[in-house]
Amino acid sequence: MRIVIDTEMKSLKVESQTGERDIDLFTNEAFELISSLWVRIGWNQKYQYTFTWLGRPIIQLPEDVMRVQEVIYHLKPNVIIETGIAHGGSLILWACLCKAMNKGRVIGVDIEIRPHNRKAIEEHELSPWITLIEGDSTDSAILERIVSMINADDIVLVILDSNHTKHHVLAELDAYHKIITPGSYIVATDGIMQGLYDVPRGQPAWINDNPTEAAIEFAQSHPDFVIEQPSWVFNESDLNKNITHWPGAWLRKIR
Ligand SMILES: C[S@@+](CC[C@H](N)C(=O)[O-])C[C@H]1O[C@@H](n2cnc3c(N)ncnc32)[C@H](O)[C@@H]1O
Repeated sequence: MRIVIDTEMKSLKVESQTGERDIDLFTNEAFELISSLWVRIGWNQKYQYTFTWLGRPIIQLPEDVMRVQEVIYHLKPNVIIETGIAHGGSLILWACLCKAMNKGRVIGVDIEIRPHNRKAIEEHELSPWITLIEGDSTDSAILERIVSMINADDIVLVILDSNHTKHHVLAELDAYHKIITPGSYIVATDGIMQGLYDVPRGQPAWINDNPTEAAIEFAQSHPDFVIEQPSWVFNESDLNKNITHWPGAWLRKIR
């Protein structure tokens, strides 16, 4: 695809295999096209590796952080489980919301919690809200441990941000979907990989091997889940699509 932006003429020309189109620059369509390119270039330039939350690195696109915050405030979960801890910034963020709402706690699972990250998380002001578990997120013993920490009437939200191969995400979906509360979500993050197969830091295999594919396959065999972007709580625009690293990520349990 070839995109030509003319700021003088306030227009955008799109040339693709299907033909050529001129779009006004100040339209939702132009914004969405430019945003999707911005997200791909930003991912390659490691924009998501430039943020912290209350002192800990958080490897997320800020747009996704805003959207998940909206979901957490609306849902008010008792337990937020995240696979993939890394430096702990996302766990600190969820814990921050739990403290502010005076409800909820956080369980983080990682195959390797590096000693300096564990120390920093355990010494953090928000550590009382966080339980760290080291191990493979799909290990049945790890899942059993997590299940033993959840009460029957808890509202449970699960965010999958560990190994993003389709195979691993499918195994996580299979393992964790049973503990999702109706109305809550299991979130298969980082499906952006699907659109990164041709960027310099991407891999050709990602076009099929990605979390979005896992979510689609999972939803097809689990009719009690639907892939559904959470509705925006506040919207005084005509826009309606997330700018995101998590396309097709939100699997809502409908019953
Ligand atoms: C993208 S990082 C997580 C980023 C973090 N959620 C954040 O927002 O800052 C992915 C993490 O997944 C962990 N990981 C990879 N494979 C895993 C597995 N099989 N089980 C659990 N964690 C895994 C890695 O060790 C790494 O720390």
